[in-house]
Amino acid sequence: MKKLFAFVLSTAMLFSLLTGCGGGGASSSQPAPSSSAPQSEASGGSEAAPASSAPEESTPEAAPAGGTIGVCIYKFDDAFMTTYRNALQKILEDKGYTVTVVDGNNDQAKQNEQINTFITQGVDALIINPVMTSAAATIIDTVKTADIPTVLINREPTADEMAAYDKLVYVGCDAAQSGTFQGELILETANKGDINGDGKVSYIMIQGDPENIDAKLRTEYSVKALTDAGMEVEQLNLTRGDWDREKGQTICANDLAQFGDQIEVVFCNNDDMAVGALQSIQSAGRKVNEDIYLVGVDALDAALNEVKAGNMTGTVLNDANGQAAKAVECMEGLLAGDTYAAGSQSVYVDYVKVTPANVADFMG
Ligand code: GAL
Repeated sequence: MKKLFAFVLSTAMLFSLLTGCGGGGASSSQPAPSSSAPQSEASGGSEAAPASSAPEESTPEAAPAGGTIGVCIYKFDDAFMTTYRNALQKILEDKGYTVTVVDGNNDQAKQNEQINTFITQGVDALIINPVMTSAAATIIDTVKTADIPTVLINREPTADEMAAYDKLVYVGCDAAQSGTFQGELILETANKGDINGDGKVSYIMIQGDPENIDAKLRTEYSVKALTDAGMEVEQLNLTRGDWDREKGQTICANDLAQFGDQIEVVFCNNDDMAVGALQSIQSAGRKVNEDIYLVGVDALDAALNEVKAGNMTGTVLNDANGQAAKAVECMEGLLAGDTYAAGSQSVYVDYVKVTPANVADFMG
């Protein structure tokens, strides 16, 4: 029996070494962006592969499947993270883990307590979606002290912060890529976003929680794609909408009242805010893809329906299922003994541009 376990374990480790936790599964991993994860010799600056996972003489005590896993979500009341956490829970339960998923209620102090409770309960591994990216160093210190293998998701800390603990990996997406794709969606329209032909693209930006790197980089790179392509741009307004549909609606209504026809493009850092913005666009008698463009990120079902109906110019798939699968794969690697070298601790799943031409591929 022990021999069989050792064989299964070493086979799993070999597989993990060959694929990295970034190479298996349906989704691909990418080089870390230079802004958040320095290159490392171990990774050769490309694949975020575990640095060393050679089996030692002794085998880890905990067998992966059947272990107990604590999952901390920054808040349940977030459309994208609801899809993500449901996918995560299903994958873990289907694999035979005992899973507890807790709601941080957007309160870092509360989440810190939840992490401590999981540690006291003796979970085998943690998957954490931090409330505040700025709390990452404290979280990492806590899990390192407790020696709990940990996968961070959705809110990416800096490579330096992660370097403090080698049984820790971040699974997410390259936020800059989603911003670039949003800009490209506008560039792919007939007039490249310059609907009124005055030589510049006038836009409003409805931003997520700016503490979050996704909000920062989507805001920056969506516009950068336009300027890189030689377009002149004019930002009429930038307002924080905290990823929230109602806020997206209110912000867009206010901006439409203030700037009216000047607005050619509505950039939303996520779909929930875009779906809210669409309600205001329609109430103002504007028509998406005719006299205004609207883009989001996530590919929520509601947004896919609107893309299909021509009421959103496009969105960008934020692959909740792919990220959940990768997070579990990395967690199992950690449980099997993988460790990560500094600079190789971010594993990315690709974003995908969604337009009316390919939206059917993402529906149902
Ligand atoms: C983003 C996602 C947003 C929101 C946010 C939470 O990746 O696009 O909709 O869920 O994560 O951190």
